[in-house]
Amino acid sequence: MAELTAVVHGAIELATATGDLQSDDPAGLRSDAAVAVVDGEIAAVGPTDEVTREYPPENAVHDVDATGRAVIPGYVDSHTHACFAGDRSDEFEAKLRGTTYGELLASGGGIHRTVRATRAASGEELLDNLLEHLDVMVAHGTTTVEVKSGYGLDTETELRMLDAVDRADDRHPVDVVPTFMGAHAVPRPADRPDDEYGEGDPVDADDYVDRVVSEQLPAVEKQGIAEFCDVFCDEGAFTVDQSRRVLEAGAERGLTPKVHAEELAHRGGAKLAAEVGAASADHLLHATDEDVAALVEADVTPALLPGTAFGLGADYADGRAMVDSGAPVAVATDFNPNCHSQSMAFASALACVEMGLTPAEALVAGTRNGARALDRPDLGVVREGAPADLVVLDAPSHVHVPYSYGINRVATVLKDGRPVVGPEWTGERDRDADSGGER
Ligand code: NIG
Ligand code: FE
Repeated sequence: MAELTAVVHGAIELATATGDLQSDDPAGLRSDAAVAVVDGEIAAVGPTDEVTREYPPENAVHDVDATGRAVIPGYVDSHTHACFAGDRSDEFEAKLRGTTYGELLASGGGIHRTVRATRAASGEELLDNLLEHLDVMVAHGTTTVEVKSGYGLDTETELRMLDAVDRADDRHPVDVVPTFMGAHAVPRPADRPDDEYGEGDPVDADDYVDRVVSEQLPAVEKQGIAEFCDVFCDEGAFTVDQSRRVLEAGAERGLTPKVHAEELAHRGGAKLAAEVGAASADHLLHATDEDVAALVEADVTPALLPGTAFGLGADYADGRAMVDSGAPVAVATDFNPNCHSQSMAFASALACVEMGLTPAEALVAGTRNGARALDRPDLGVVREGAPADLVVLDAPSHVHVPYSYGINRVATVLKDGRPVVGPEWTGERDRDADSGGER
């Protein structure tokens, strides 16, 4: 028999996020609204009196009274590097004193430092760290998150990271989408546990790309976890030709391309994303109008990561111009040791204040369009048939999310119609329970 999982009712505002960014009502706003959830799926969306007549809240497993509050879809954070070990808070201080991200990377810090810590960490440690980050994310309203590998830069550690991502997905209510990113940086010889490249010899980027293509990707395909293949196409990382090789080889093994493009400098990653039909091109701080037009033409989602520009003290991507040019812009956190915020609300506030998006646009960019960047059009919207991933705010409208910058306005989070944050949450999630591999 079907289960009436939840009825959320009395919402003063429901943002369904069903409109295009370029429409008059991107957030798809309704007032005095209710949502009925049957077997974890949204069965009805409408005025409270109509929905509750058909689906009485007292008959539901979870009666969620949202009187005076706003309800939005759970955030879909389409770009993170949330699986890692170690701490780089001292680099935050160094950056404040003027050291650049490129300087840190070139001197063996940055990504390389996290690579050393991640290689030294067990699968259990990686899993525990990731679960803690997922706890913070869901508390801030995220119900689906993409997590990349890329702090191993060797086959064994890349697979261990993806395994931790897969186990975290089993263990945690937040859905975790796995991306392989062996081409995150060219490893340094000193970072190698063995002498694979010869003592002290600098690692040649083309040789490393050979390794990604001929060793890492076959192993990743065999492991069968990753869905996407991402590459850091940028100054100090991989060229367009090297990136293309990795993405084409990944696509042959069933992994959909994604590109870190035009972050530190303009290097052609956006055009490459259009050429290979990537799901998204991310960062785009230095993207041109022509790049954005190519992305729109090729149906690639431009994913903006304002937290990164904030932390780097860099100029922001021109989100306003992209939206005005018709682009289905997504906004994500880029949570990583260099951009240590798991909060989509903070990313939304920056998208409004620094990139010129309206609160309604920022909402759609962080929900529906985040889902678009992950090829999951069923997520990030409140409509019949969609999974019931809903956030009740301790506020009367979605505007209060970016308006209350630095403050968490999340009152209750429902994942598939079940409370996983908030007063209704029974704490049924058992961190020690094992539904995946061994811990
Ligand atoms: O998206 N740019 C490359 N990768 C990450 C940073 C990772 C790190 O610094 O650890 C990013 O910003
Ligand atoms: Fe990134």
